Amino acid sequence: MKAGIGYSHGKIILIGEHAAVYGKPAIAIPFLATKCKTVVKETLESNIDSIVYRGKTSNAPEELTPITSLIKELTIKLDLPNLSFDIKSNIPISSGMGSSAAVASSIVQAVYDYLEKDLSPKDKLSWIEFSEIKAHGNPSGIDALTTTFNNAWLFQKGSLLVEFDSNLAAYLIVGQSGEKGNTKEAVSIVKEEVDKGKMNLIEELGRLTQVVYEAYLAEDIILIGKTLTAAQKILKELQVSTEKIDQMVELALSNRALGAKLTGGGLGGCVIALAKNYREAENIKMVWENLSTLEAWILDLSEEKK
Ligand code: MEV
Repeated sequence: MKAGIGYSHGKIILIGEHAAVYGKPAIAIPFLATKCKTVVKETLESNIDSIVYRGKTSNAPEELTPITSLIKELTIKLDLPNLSFDIKSNIPISSGMGSSAAVASSIVQAVYDYLEKDLSPKDKLSWIEFSEIKAHGNPSGIDALTTTFNNAWLFQKGSLLVEFDSNLAAYLIVGQSGEKGNTKEAVSIVKEEVDKGKMNLIEELGRLTQVVYEAYLAEDIILIGKTLTAAQKILKELQVSTEKIDQMVELALSNRALGAKLTGGGLGGCVIALAKNYREAENIKMVWENLSTLEAWILDLSEEKK
């Protein structure tokens, strides 16, 4: 039977989350250890088979609205037959790793593959954006981009994209806090803070992203680390950190991390820390794992895109 397949992956925002929504720069890298694959096939009635829900598309729970709306829109615009959507993903959900954008991305690619139709990068991103608007109202587009393409980016909404060489002689530890993040709520909390007069913090996050970009070019891992921690202080002031995230950041810093911060929307989700060598990275990972039973990963940044 004819099938269509689409692939995507998770992403990690190094710096600039939330500021990206306000047109400031952000840096994100693909997280290829986490992947999503969707297979579509013709069927009698549209249905979804995923870790979150299995059943008719029309009966899917509200939390799947970004996906069901996307399927509905694709069906109308592309005159699709009823399809089954088999979604397999190991990208942690509600963890700031772009799971919602990645699922949307793999669905769109699977549908176009099924139709044997060309899909331009621009159309791909605008379909994902359609789904992301349902997910959290005001997406910058950074998740759509980084979960779909294998490049790291210096991203700025509405601006020319700069591919980012994320090779660095350092290690990034990524740890799940065990608390569910909520990007929609986080974006709306930050908006409230901005409306109360905290736009200067967004400006500062944008400036810190530039600092990290330049420090990357100079391979200055000490400055990158310090700047990541400075960004975390601002994200905390913007009310999107949590006690658990703060605790993980403190633990990383007291275990020789060069810097640490939340990644993604916040209010839970994941924390990242930068370490100068593997031994220290392993130690931070172990300390985090002792705090919660959730998963942590070590990325060798010197291996990125080799
Ligand atoms: C979410 O991964 C990143 C945010 O900046 C939202 C966005 O840019 O769309 C919080």
